[in-house]
Amino acid sequence: MNETSEKILNILEENEGPISGEKISEMVGVTRSAVWKHINELKDLGYSIESSRSKGYELTTPTSRLLPHEIKKHINTEFIGKDIRYFKNTPSTTWVAKDICSKEDAENFNGTILIAEEQTGGVGRLGRAWFSPSGGIWLTIILKPTIPIDKLFFVTMAASIAVARTIRRMYDIGALIKWPNDIYIGDKKVSGILLELAAESDQIHYCLLGIGIDANIKPEDLQSSLQTPITSLNIEIGHDINRAEFLAKMLKEFERRYQLIEDGEYKAISREWKSLSLTLEKRVRITTPRRTFEGEAIDLDEDGALIVKKDNGKIERILSGDCTPI
Ligand code: BTN
Repeated sequence: MNETSEKILNILEENEGPISGEKISEMVGVTRSAVWKHINELKDLGYSIESSRSKGYELTTPTSRLLPHEIKKHINTEFIGKDIRYFKNTPSTTWVAKDICSKEDAENFNGTILIAEEQTGGVGRLGRAWFSPSGGIWLTIILKPTIPIDKLFFVTMAASIAVARTIRRMYDIGALIKWPNDIYIGDKKVSGILLELAAESDQIHYCLLGIGIDANIKPEDLQSSLQTPITSLNIEIGHDINRAEFLAKMLKEFERRYQLIEDGEYKAISREWKSLSLTLEKRVRITTPRRTFEGEAIDLDEDGALIVKKDNGKIERILSGDCTPI
């Protein structure tokens, strides 16, 4: 949305009832035909605007799209989401972020978020495809953390805590975190997190935090698999949520915890993650590319590895793979 369209939108949002094209053109300093052109652009972005020759223009329904303008109404973060880039349709926000960071210094994009209404090639953990129809919240946050590389797992922990907390605070639903960083409601997955890293020896160039949330997705549009039953916020709550408000609150929850990590407060993050864990103190099945075994998930260590006690008493440290409570 360009600056003039945004100014016109602000006028329509603040005005109760219709306002004439002439008045808008005076307020914004453009011709009446330019006003008409910008109104059409706003309509294309999903805003319902009634126009009548005698009365002028009236905004009747805001857009349901996750536009930066809508998110900015709710956001109160310090640096995350100050720069929001929106795509109606893109293969993957992670690819877009990689492209940006390969061309320019990632330092200038610390906190920038990329959002897609729909992804055609969404990427999940362990190289899996991530189904991303419109109605979800698909975003990548570009970050340049100043923490040791072996503490990066805490960034994904902060993100999973932020998603679970936002669901709990806004809708009073008991969302929990399944190791490593899936957010579950009951026995169904509602959100997943993926961290991609660009680093050289111990030096982090940047990392890309991908967050996918099945928000306003109807049951018939979900793609559950047998291994991972999934749900959406729409299904759990019974109606569509305000995605812009949800996202703004979630970013604030994330930023607070990210700042704790930057201050070296790892223990606080790990404590909170454990308090929201669906996995700890449960019998679990672990599947890695090389083997599958069962045992009791007894702890999470300082590297984010899951500590599993096998039936023969042997302790295993799991750094990646799938973990299913059984
Ligand atoms: C998982 O497998 O649980 C992680 C899924 C992460 C999906 C998000 S959606 C936004 C970003 N873009 C992608 O292609 N993937 C991540």
